Amino acid sequence: MFTGTPFTFATGMSKKIIITIDGWSSCGKSTLAKQLAKKLDYLYVDSGAMYRAITLYFLRNNVDLDEKKEIKDALKQINLEFVVNDKSRLSEMHLNGENVEYVIRDLLVAEKVSDVAALKEVREFAVAQQQKMGAKKGIVMDGRDIGTTVFPNAELKIFMTADIAVRVERRFKELFEKNPNITIEEVKNNLEMRDYIDSNREVSPLRKAADARVLDNTQLTEKQQFDTAMDWVHERVKNI
Ligand code: DC
Repeated sequence: MFTGTPFTFATGMSKKIIITIDGWSSCGKSTLAKQLAKKLDYLYVDSGAMYRAITLYFLRNNVDLDEKKEIKDALKQINLEFVVNDKSRLSEMHLNGENVEYVIRDLLVAEKVSDVAALKEVREFAVAQQQKMGAKKGIVMDGRDIGTTVFPNAELKIFMTADIAVRVERRFKELFEKNPNITIEEVKNNLEMRDYIDSNREVSPLRKAADARVLDNTQLTEKQQFDTAMDWVHERVKNI
């Protein structure tokens, strides 16, 4: 799992760094993170998948979010692992040995995940694992608190944003493929609710780190966005 040869004579960027990508829901963080990781031969970690898998476990086991002991006991039963899919070469979230990569994208999970991710015990559990994954650098991790809490010393921090209408449209297209009954209203409400909870919670709220670079992709193509981020990577690596 997660092996990769150190990068790369072609671009002369042999120094490995940590890249954090934070931002609002559905502004393309994971798309950019995957592209950067592929180009740089870095590890990609979707920290949101970890919160989603924990939420799935809590839902399946009726964990009461008001009961600290229940939460702590439940977390002891959870083993999270990213496993690379041999065909797609992308890593997928496994919860206690089960591939849950697709189930965790359901609206049912999305409706609860921000409440679960706001719990101190849950954040401590996830953050400790995320920090271990970055110990050797050469990692791109996306989420909400990666540049502020998980890797406050990361060499390159990106904060992504886009207009809400654009984000709703993108997310709707994604979800509609799996569930044609879904409505734009549902998607919009869910995004707005998650953004609100994620940025107003007590523990590690979504914030732009003071030293993060802002990438607003409302008007950018994927290629323009990727090129901008790669320029920042080159600039940063050159100045280490
Ligand atoms: O990136 P995503 O939409 O898959 O994340 C799902 C939820 O998990 C998101 O609404 C907030 C939470 N999350 C978090 O609190 N901290 C992170 N580092 C990543 C995700």
